Amino acid sequence: MSGYFRANIASLAGYVPGEQPRADGVIKLNTNENPYPPSPRVFTALRKAINPSLRLYPEPLADSLRAVAASVYGVKPENILAGNGSDEILSIMMRSFVGPQDRVAFPVPTYSLYDTLIAIQEGERIIVDYPPDFSVPEALAAQNSALTFLCNPNSPSGTLIRLPDIERLARAVSGILVIDEAYVDFADSEGASTLPLIRHLPNLVVLRTFSKSFSLAGMRIGLAFASEEIISGMMKVKDSYNLNRLSLVAATAALQDMPWMMRNLTRIQRDRRRLTEGLKKGGFYVYPSHANFVMARKKEQNLKDVYERLKSKKILVRYFDVPGLRDCLRITVGTTQEIRSLLREVKGIGTHPSM
Ligand SMILES: Cc1ncc(COP(=O)(O)O)c(C=O)c1O
Repeated sequence: MSGYFRANIASLAGYVPGEQPRADGVIKLNTNENPYPPSPRVFTALRKAINPSLRLYPEPLADSLRAVAASVYGVKPENILAGNGSDEILSIMMRSFVGPQDRVAFPVPTYSLYDTLIAIQEGERIIVDYPPDFSVPEALAAQNSALTFLCNPNSPSGTLIRLPDIERLARAVSGILVIDEAYVDFADSEGASTLPLIRHLPNLVVLRTFSKSFSLAGMRIGLAFASEEIISGMMKVKDSYNLNRLSLVAATAALQDMPWMMRNLTRIQRDRRRLTEGLKKGGFYVYPSHANFVMARKKEQNLKDVYERLKSKKILVRYFDVPGLRDCLRITVGTTQEIRSLLREVKGIGTHPSM
């Protein structure tokens, strides 16, 4: 029996391959991947797409995917650009809107790629510290920037800024406001996404990825949502065939099975609560997370040691060796079993979480 066939029979029986430990015994909780596999519909569609038409170039503008995404998200296809992961879209945005010395603002700590991409464009990086509660920094809107980035929910904090605050920010900034919603599907409340606001905020761009909630990090697919004017400008900058045929097929199939994604979200939200409670019992401060990871802090203790000890037990979490974050660990919500193993090891290291 082929592996593919086995996996499909297994998922029909309610068994989820992602629940199986990895063969090398590593528990990987450091890059916020989804511990559950993508929808079986994705596998079926991919298998069908592996045929001689692979000799042909893919759709240059991802029209089929954009049509399906438009109907799922209630916008027009002209409001959507598809990218090779949302990282590619971030790069397209920088190339479209930022030249030497142009100002690009964002609050910190946040996703480190913004910094790298600004440096490549020789733009001027303007950073504004988040306040302790990770609300919108007062000074962010007044930076006179070509682009302003806001990661929401934010990484590494997992915290969420609500729609009215984002709307205020979009109206107050001088240039384009980019909301990076890589993790928004994991938010506790519905209506966390800024996407509906693109209709009446012409300077707003919303980024989504298939890497997290749709379990497709390996396929590299992201979407940008914005006014037709912004999207058509970005279309001119992107590579001609930036998404390959299989990624387009996978993304389209994933969007056609929303219940699968939602089922995984529910499990991850449940295990996020367990992880949070366990870490709190171990004396950590855990930021309220709306993502598939949590940030745990032991104020003014350097947690490098804890990170190293977990690593020696084959549990990988994220430690940021930078000022202001050395007393934090960012931990991806893995499977229930992985979270149990992590909490057990943390307890062994000297704190006392349990779940
Ligand atoms: C905030 C944020 N934005 C974007 C990305 C990139 O996502 P993609 O896999 O779609 O390139 C990540 C990946 O971890 C992320 O954390």
